[in-house]
Amino acid sequence: MADKTNVLTFEHEILPVLTQRRSPRAYTNKPIPAEVVEQVFTAASSSASCFGEQPWRYILGNQSTSPEAFQKILGSMMEFNQVWAKNAGALVVGVAKLNFSHDNNPNNWAKYDVGQATATLAIEATELGLQIHQMAGFKPDVLRTSFNIPEGYEPVVVFTLGYPGPASDLPDPLREREEAPRTRKPLAEFLFEGAWPTPEGERYDQATV
Ligand SMILES: Cc1cc2nc3c(=O)[nH]c(=O)nc-3n(C[C@H](O)[C@H](O)[C@H](O)COP(=O)(O)O)c2cc1C
Repeated sequence: MADKTNVLTFEHEILPVLTQRRSPRAYTNKPIPAEVVEQVFTAASSSASCFGEQPWRYILGNQSTSPEAFQKILGSMMEFNQVWAKNAGALVVGVAKLNFSHDNNPNNWAKYDVGQATATLAIEATELGLQIHQMAGFKPDVLRTSFNIPEGYEPVVVFTLGYPGPASDLPDPLREREEAPRTRKPLAEFLFEGAWPTPEGERYDQATV
């Protein structure tokens, strides 16, 4: 069952699962079964990609089935991420294949497509009662060495995958962040119909007409 903690609220109705996806730091130690892993990563592969390249690759470290990989991924993370991420059921590295397979030219959309695939798997995970928390705070070179990632591939993100736990399990500053209300920019700040907005002060979201 989907996690209903600290959901987003909007003026306009959207799919409930999108409001339920969040980036928790507290996790239970419930193992993630293989069929759940397969479903979540199959969702990633449903994503669109430039030239249909599917440039995403994922390295999975599941605490219960691949603990050594889990420890290697954990070891690549900044200390401030390790402190909470170590409790997740799994850690994952998202890797981009940097060149197109059909002509070997640089694929400038490879990282964009890894992001799309990861966003899609996050929604599938939420629907299954799990969550992910993506991180930029890791050392790509450490992963390249520890997993022998070849040239032409770049680790672009690390994320937890797991069943969320109570915020009360977290140390104080992290608990407060976990429980803080979640907000988003209003539509008028990022949706510009017809034209780029005029300079500050004449922004159409503040206009009187
Ligand atoms: C690409 C990316 C990198 C992030 N890096 C970190 C990180 O290193 N450490 C961290 O605690 N949170 C990280 N975050 C999480 C965000 O700072 C933020 O907590 C999250 O987007 C909260 O929104 P949500 O609950 O709606 O997902 C990252 C998120 C993204 C998408």
